[in-house]
Amino acid sequence: MTETFADELRQATWGDHEAAEHTAYLEALMSGKVSRAGYAEMVAQHYFAYVALEAAGRALADDPVAGPFVRTELERVPALERDLETLYGPAWREEITPSKPTLTYVARINQVADWPGGFIAHHYTRYLGDLSGGQVIRKVAERTYEFDDEGGVGFYRFPAVPDLKAFKVEYRDQLNALDLDDVQRKRIVRETLLAYQLNTEVLVEIGKRLPEYLVA
Ligand code: HEM
Repeated sequence: MTETFADELRQATWGDHEAAEHTAYLEALMSGKVSRAGYAEMVAQHYFAYVALEAAGRALADDPVAGPFVRTELERVPALERDLETLYGPAWREEITPSKPTLTYVARINQVADWPGGFIAHHYTRYLGDLSGGQVIRKVAERTYEFDDEGGVGFYRFPAVPDLKAFKVEYRDQLNALDLDDVQRKRIVRETLLAYQLNTEVLVEIGKRLPEYLVA
C-alpha cells in the first residue's frame, strides 16, 4: 500500500516532534513545575504566532487548496486574548513582547502566506498539535493553575469541535485529498520541519528563563 501524505508528513516530522515535546520548558511545564508567569509567557508567544497564522488564513479563505483548511471553529486568537487578559490583566497588550524566535516564526508565516502548501504546513503543525498534545497540556495547566472558566486555558479548548478525534481523522483525509506531485509533497514536508524548528526555538527561548519560572 502506498503511504498517504498524512502518514508521510507525520513520519517525516515525528523526530522533530519529539525534540519540541522534550524541550526543557515543556518538560518542566508538564511536570507542573512552571510558575503561572512562566506559563503566561508561552501563551503570549502563541498570541503573536496565531495572529499571523490566522491573518494568513483569512487571506487564503477562498483559495481552492488552502481554503478548506481555514475553519472558524479552529480560530484561536479570541481565546488567546481572553487567556492573556486572565493572565496579565486588562493592560495585557502592554505587558507582552514577541521574542526574537517568535519574530522569526511570524516572519516565516508571513513569507509563505501566499503559498497554499506552505500555509498548510504551518497550519498542520500548530492546529493538529493543539488538538493532540495540546489537550495533554490543557489538563496539566488546569490542574497546576486552577483556572476558572474566565480564561487561562481557553487556547486549548475547542468548544466548536465536539469530537476532536473525528476532526483529526477528517483533517488527515483533507491532507490526503490534496493533489500534490512528489516535489510539492517534499516542499510541504520541508516547510513542516521548519515550522517545528521555529516552534522549538520559541520554546528554547522561553526555557532560558526557566530558573526564574521554576517552582519547587
Ligand atoms: C507536552 C508537549 C506535547 C505532547 C505531550 C504531545 C503529544 C502528542 C501526541 C500524543 C500526539 C499524537 C496524537 C494522535 O496520534 O492523534 C501528537 C501529535 C501531534 N503533535 Fe504533539 N505533543 C506535544 C507538543 C507538540 C508541539 C510543541 C508541537 C508543534 C509545535 C506538536 C505538534 C503535533 C502535531 C502536528 C501532531 C500531529 C501529528 C500527526 O498525527 O500527523 N506537539 N502530539
